Amino acid sequence: MKNSKGFLISFEGIEGSGKTTISRLIAETLMMDGYEVMTTYEPGGTQIGHKIRDILLSAEHKNMSHMCELFLYNAARAQHLKEIILPALQSGKLVITDRFIDSTVAYQGYGRGIDLSLIRHLTEIVTGGLKPHITILLDIDIELGLKRNRSIKKVDRFELEEIEFYKKVKEGYRRIYEDEPKRIKIVDASQPLEMIIQEVRDIIVRSIC
Ligand code: TMP
Repeated sequence: MKNSKGFLISFEGIEGSGKTTISRLIAETLMMDGYEVMTTYEPGGTQIGHKIRDILLSAEHKNMSHMCELFLYNAARAQHLKEIILPALQSGKLVITDRFIDSTVAYQGYGRGIDLSLIRHLTEIVTGGLKPHITILLDIDIELGLKRNRSIKKVDRFELEEIEFYKKVKEGYRRIYEDEPKRIKIVDASQPLEMIIQEVRDIIVRSIC
């Protein structure tokens, strides 16, 4: 078994970028390469996190305040770190999470317009400064992403948003990349799936070495 000495990888991107499928396939590929891999996701990953996820995504909660949303994502993350991410990293696993801290900056910061310094401060409190070693940002055209997503998923609270919201989120991800180009690796998610998997696998294996 190869030792990744506790390596955290996050997958990020707008709706329909293929994060969930790609992160799962990458995990399988890395396991076949001999790595001890754990996959997880946000919001969720724990029993408490699933309950918070239901509250956050329910289309019934259209009137949720932006601050309520911000704190619920962070509450789910605090539990996720305690129960899942930190123990797995401590035992030397390679942890792959479908969404993490950059989603909050992109969606609640750039998308909702909440002050970025407040978000960063809250993130620091919740994570104790832990950041992914690398983040795969799957880049997709907004309309294509939303079309893909609507064909496979029931409508949740975020899918009720106008395209303008997703433009802000996508722009947010671009700014996050500009701030941390070493950590964030942009991958073109409109390529054929096999090419994406190959590219992402190469990025991860190079980064672990
Ligand atoms: P998904 O992971 O199934 O795409 O759904 C999660 C939704 O929650 C997605 O619309 C992005 C949103 N989200 C935030 O707005 N902030 C966050 O911090 C996280 C983790 C997710």
